[in-house]
Amino acid sequence: MHFKKPQIVFSDKLPDLKLFKGGKGGSAALLIHDRILLNRVPNFGDWAKKFPASYAVEAGEELKDLASYSKHLEKILTLANQFSPRELSIVVAGGGSVGDFGGFTASILKRGVNLIQIPTTWLAAIDSAHGGKTALNVAGVKNQIGTYYPASQVFLVRAALFAQTSAQAQDAAGELAKIALIEGGSKWLKLATASEQEGRLLWRFLPDAIAAKYRIVQKDPFEKKNIRQFLNLGHTLGHILEAYHGFSHGSAVAQGLLFSVEWSRKKKLLKASSHIKILNLLNQTFQFTPLTEIKGFSKIPKKDFMELLLSDKKRHSTSEISFVFLKDYGKPLLKNTPALEILAEARAQGWVET
Ligand SMILES: NC(=O)c1ccc[n+]([C@@H]2O[C@H](COP(=O)([O-])OP(=O)(O)OC[C@H]3O[C@@H](n4cnc5c(N)ncnc54)[C@H](O)[C@@H]3O)[C@@H](O)[C@H]2O)c1
Repeated sequence: MHFKKPQIVFSDKLPDLKLFKGGKGGSAALLIHDRILLNRVPNFGDWAKKFPASYAVEAGEELKDLASYSKHLEKILTLANQFSPRELSIVVAGGGSVGDFGGFTASILKRGVNLIQIPTTWLAAIDSAHGGKTALNVAGVKNQIGTYYPASQVFLVRAALFAQTSAQAQDAAGELAKIALIEGGSKWLKLATASEQEGRLLWRFLPDAIAAKYRIVQKDPFEKKNIRQFLNLGHTLGHILEAYHGFSHGSAVAQGLLFSVEWSRKKKLLKASSHIKILNLLNQTFQFTPLTEIKGFSKIPKKDFMELLLSDKKRHSTSEISFVFLKDYGKPLLKNTPALEILAEARAQGWVET
């Protein structure tokens, strides 16, 4: 199997269907889109009508549920069958859930048809639309089945991304900070002097964030070399806050980053001067509030914490987890770490009841 980086296109408006490559381009394109876009993104309805076929879905984890998937697939097949598989392109417009659902569908439909992604949330634009991972949930457990199926093109559309609320933009800061810490270098330190509002800031740094993700993915596209797993920085613990306390993905990742940085310092993996530089970025530029200072936060009971920790997909064995530390700004380090050690540190950092 071979990973081919997609063509990345930035545009102000929704793309002209003539720009679609692969298959028969826009003339044999099936649009799968988040229904919300009809009300949020200017002219989305008129644009969608230009497609020879379209299918609207409700975003969210329900959409990715295997139990309801065959119903969707039957309807999508009816629409797709008017085209020859060689000519068909699936164009997916939506956030990460629609991207995972649509990408998975493109990868299995007639054994794989051309895929084009138009991410419409900041999370999807920075992260999930790139790198080719698709997924469905099984029996309530996230991302249990899926494929590696990169899009041939990814369009980043300003009008769609700016249709999000400022809270949605703020939430994406967790993923932006993650990529900054993994990649390092002076370019990301410029974030410290940025003064734009969140959306504008994200749009300015989006090309760099995407390029950084591809630099990692291309070194280890199918997760065989323990490089792509660096992208899990902040996620192992972040997922626990998401699942237990209902934190948004971005704010949970932000807390996961603070946890990992603090633990890396305590383990003396990270030297003091780097630690200060990183904390400046996280606390001053991004203004992440430490978990224990968040109003209303209650510590997680040990049993729930362990259950969630061990159900995480990065589990290495029943008792060890691949945990991403930081050796320096721009130098992530993957270590198989006993779950009980993570528990002890989570207690020490005030995440878990003692
Ligand atoms: N495949 C990957 O590599 C990868 C990586 C990270 C996350 N994910 C997946 O991504 C999903 C989370 O992503 P998400 O937060 O983008 O999810 P989402 O698709 O559920 O979107 C979040 C919300 O934003 C709304 N929305 C979408 N576009 C909008 C717009 N332009 N304006 C206003 N609202 C809009 C949606 O309707 C939804 O309510 C999870 O299922 C996660 O597992 C996948």
